[in-house]
Amino acid sequence: MTDLLGNLKRTHHCCQLKDTDIDKEVVLMGWVQHRRDHGGVIFVDLRDKEGITQIVFNPENSKEVHEKAQEIRNEYVLGVKGKVIARPDDMLNPNMETGAIEVLIDELSIFSRAETPAFQIDDRVEASESIRLQYRYLDLRRPQLKNNILARHKATMAIRNYLDNKGFVDIETPFLTKSTPEGARDYLVPSRVNQGDFYALPQSPQLFKQLLMISGFDRYYQIVKCFRDEDLRADRQPEFTQIDMELSFIDEQGVMEVAEGMIVDIFKKVIDLDLATPFPQITYDDAMSRFGLDRPDLRFGLELCDVSDIVKNAEFKVFANVVKNGGLVKGINAKGCAVFTRKQIDELTDFTAVYKAKGLAWIKIKENEWQSPIAKFFTDEEKDALKKRLDLEPGDIVFFVADQPKITNEALGQLRNELARRLELISDETYEFTWVTHFPMMDYDETDKRYQALHHPFTAPLEEDIEKLASDPLSVKSRAYDLVLNGIEIGGGSIRIHSAELQSTVLACLGIDENEANEKFGFLLNALESGAPPHGGIAFGLDRLMMLLCKEDSIRNVIAFPKTQKATCLLTEAPSKASMTQLQELAIKVSKIEK
Ligand code: AMO
Ligand code: AMP
Repeated sequence: MTDLLGNLKRTHHCCQLKDTDIDKEVVLMGWVQHRRDHGGVIFVDLRDKEGITQIVFNPENSKEVHEKAQEIRNEYVLGVKGKVIARPDDMLNPNMETGAIEVLIDELSIFSRAETPAFQIDDRVEASESIRLQYRYLDLRRPQLKNNILARHKATMAIRNYLDNKGFVDIETPFLTKSTPEGARDYLVPSRVNQGDFYALPQSPQLFKQLLMISGFDRYYQIVKCFRDEDLRADRQPEFTQIDMELSFIDEQGVMEVAEGMIVDIFKKVIDLDLATPFPQITYDDAMSRFGLDRPDLRFGLELCDVSDIVKNAEFKVFANVVKNGGLVKGINAKGCAVFTRKQIDELTDFTAVYKAKGLAWIKIKENEWQSPIAKFFTDEEKDALKKRLDLEPGDIVFFVADQPKITNEALGQLRNELARRLELISDETYEFTWVTHFPMMDYDETDKRYQALHHPFTAPLEEDIEKLASDPLSVKSRAYDLVLNGIEIGGGSIRIHSAELQSTVLACLGIDENEANEKFGFLLNALESGAPPHGGIAFGLDRLMMLLCKEDSIRNVIAFPKTQKATCLLTEAPSKASMTQLQELAIKVSKIEK
């Protein structure tokens, strides 16, 4: 045993042996994937991070070692020494990468015994996700998760090399800090030495990276954890990782070029795919008009069509009234889908209702008629215009939503994605990137009755729109950009405001008065007055990027220790209660909410 472990100091072989290793003496360390006792000869599949190799305990080779091998069970940790041999022809296993060889063992150490695992360690695992999260260290032994984590490492190495070559400096920024407004709730950390005061965990390093530009570090990057207390989804975690960067003396095009180069490098190094650049760009207005969402999935057509002008006087009052009240009527032609059943249409209606659509009108185009509950309300002229605008042909079905622009776009945009999923128009193998540019600076929050920044309040407005900030804030476009991949926002950034005066004006537009501005961002406003270079940057969601690269449906599968949808860690059982002493030290009283 000591001999074998001693071998660790030198190098042992990995369990991904090659045919060229035949006749070599090897030392392997790993976990027992599977054990079979074939009438005297014991076969074990030994697994490590690199792969699986079959090892053989034959009493004819060593009676003593064979005897010891009797007690081996799944997930035991072994060290073995033996000779690599070619498998006999009738024992070849074409389903296994190392299926042409095996190792005849003459030394065995059992380093650890293992209880029967909560689930079988292979990719056909049937255990529920909560069991797998509880035993995450076992789940991470599975090839799928293991490979995702290794791919993530490849990606971060590619990122660091790329950015280092481009002159970026990796600088850490604090976790115990002040609120950074990225639109989510903060995670607060109570201070013991300043009782009653709280740090906020950063939602992003936004303000620090701007300060670093003011300090003269003209190219900064960091692969950094961010914390946001928000409603979780498949592509959202309460703590997630950003590839965060900032550059001085740069414009939108400059940031995009650096970012594209990095993405190209990651795809090449991780999945050996050559991406074409530059990535296409679309304005926010065009994206909303054609796809209904600011993160359009460009892997398929099914574009939205505005028909408000055609139906504004229609006898169908729902449509006409919506247009009169400043709303939008838009349609999607699902080509060849007139065969949809009533049930399918009802399902799609329920689907759009989730996005607050009040109904989903439809027309099936038949050879000689339009089949629809609403066709009777349209004049021949209106029908002709609809036919032309929507390219309606026999066999098609067209869906309409009429509502305020926000709802019409969101509901039909989501319906577009849902139709593509149902019609299987989405190829798993395609990566369609697009930049979305010219976002509005702000929108109006009906609940809070105030304007809010669409990106964050440090984003610069378009030069030519600055004068409209006071008079018509909703029409002001910003210098923000998002990078969208297959309908998912993988990155977002902007050119920043580098003048204290303009920054104050923008904060005022957002209803943040001078006192509040000073209290929250006084340090930034001061810094902006001490010689701030023009600057801008971007942050990518590393988890989301890896999810797409690894073809996973959830970012949980590319994070070693993720949280559940309820922001809990099933492995460590965090969050958990604090002790009375801790609470007293922090001067915190918990008014207990019984669960
Ligand atoms: P933004 O808020 O757009 O920008 O975040 C950048 C990217 O981070 C990813 N992301 C998330 N990933 C997983 N879980 C989450 N909860 C989550 N939230 C965001 C997304 C997103 O595109 N400071 C700015 C960047 C800048 O302006 O430079 C920022 O944080 O992929
Ligand atoms: P109604 O006259 O309310 O029975 O509606 C006739 C059709 O129009 C039904 O298919 C409804 O789903 C649809 N509909 C009603 N309101 C809207 C709306 N705001 N947008 C789109 N379709 C609607």
